[in-house]
Amino acid sequence: MQPLIDQHGRIATDLRVSLTDRCNLRCTYCMPPEGLDWMPTDEQLTDAEVVRLIGVAVRELGVTEVRFTGGEPLVRRGLVDIVRQVRALDADVEMSITTNALGLARTASALAEAGLNRANVSLDTVRSDTFHQITRRDRFADVVEGLAAAEAAGLGPVKVNAVLLRGVNDDQAPELLAWCLERGYQLRFIEQMPLDAQHGWDRSSMVTADEILSSLSSVFRLSPAAEPRGSAPAELFRVDDGPATVGVIASVTRPFCGDCDRVRLTADGQVRNCLFARTESDLRTALRTGASDADLAARWRTAMWGKLPGHGIDDPTFLQPDRPMSAIGG
Ligand code: 5AD
Ligand code: SF4
Repeated sequence: MQPLIDQHGRIATDLRVSLTDRCNLRCTYCMPPEGLDWMPTDEQLTDAEVVRLIGVAVRELGVTEVRFTGGEPLVRRGLVDIVRQVRALDADVEMSITTNALGLARTASALAEAGLNRANVSLDTVRSDTFHQITRRDRFADVVEGLAAAEAAGLGPVKVNAVLLRGVNDDQAPELLAWCLERGYQLRFIEQMPLDAQHGWDRSSMVTADEILSSLSSVFRLSPAAEPRGSAPAELFRVDDGPATVGVIASVTRPFCGDCDRVRLTADGQVRNCLFARTESDLRTALRTGASDADLAARWRTAMWGKLPGHGIDDPTFLQPDRPMSAIGG
């Protein structure tokens, strides 16, 4: 086994697999109301192709963690089968999903039974009206049910990811945390990154980690968590002396690129060595023209070697990637 190493000495062991660019919500910071031009089906990897590439990653490249993302991964029909097949090829790989939880109430137990370990749910507010405002859909109740089903199915510890938007939900951090604490969900706030399809991101309107922490501190006593952070992007804080914690993922104001252990595969079979990469490596064409597992692994290693040291959001020359977040996966 030769791992996915880059020129800066980082080793990628955490693979994010986007299974579709489609979604059943339309979060304002992600997509326009009418959605996007979805990826043509023939460009999307089939279930068998996805499983084959994950197999290469796990067996030949030392990947130990696989996270399914989207768009919304639950809208991919073959999801449960993909999970089952990946579990069959490796009993130990850690498998999780990042989902908006619509429909999770129906599928959580099947996913757990197929071998999924954990679920991360995206939820930016616990007010039904704010939920509708952000996602443009009136589906808050479904998310609440989905979260409960994930917990009940053993997909815990369930994590909740929240993005705060200026003037929309930036005053709601404490109530989100109280709500998650009551239910035993681990909340993490994520700074908004320049990855929206509309290219409307603006640093000055981003709610920063400092602001989030000071807002939380008006209600809760926060202290740095004892455990070392390692390659985890979330900085953890104990809430009211623990054991519960809250996390802040300060991708923009406190970047953690130097410790990054991620690699991404898009739904159309392109390796992205960074969320912000401006180039991709096409594994789908190689796969469809008869490449062996060893060939695919070699291409994948080459794609990783050139990973840049950081995202460069603060550089004057920074350019947002062409693919929006919904087509890369979180
Ligand atoms: N910045 C930060 N997080 C984002 N997400 C979507 N777009 C952005 C962005 N521009 C989050 C979603 C979800 C996860 C998949 O990524 O809220 O939690
Ligand atoms: Fe869908 Fe996630 Fe984008 Fe919201 S942020 S529209 S849930 S892909």
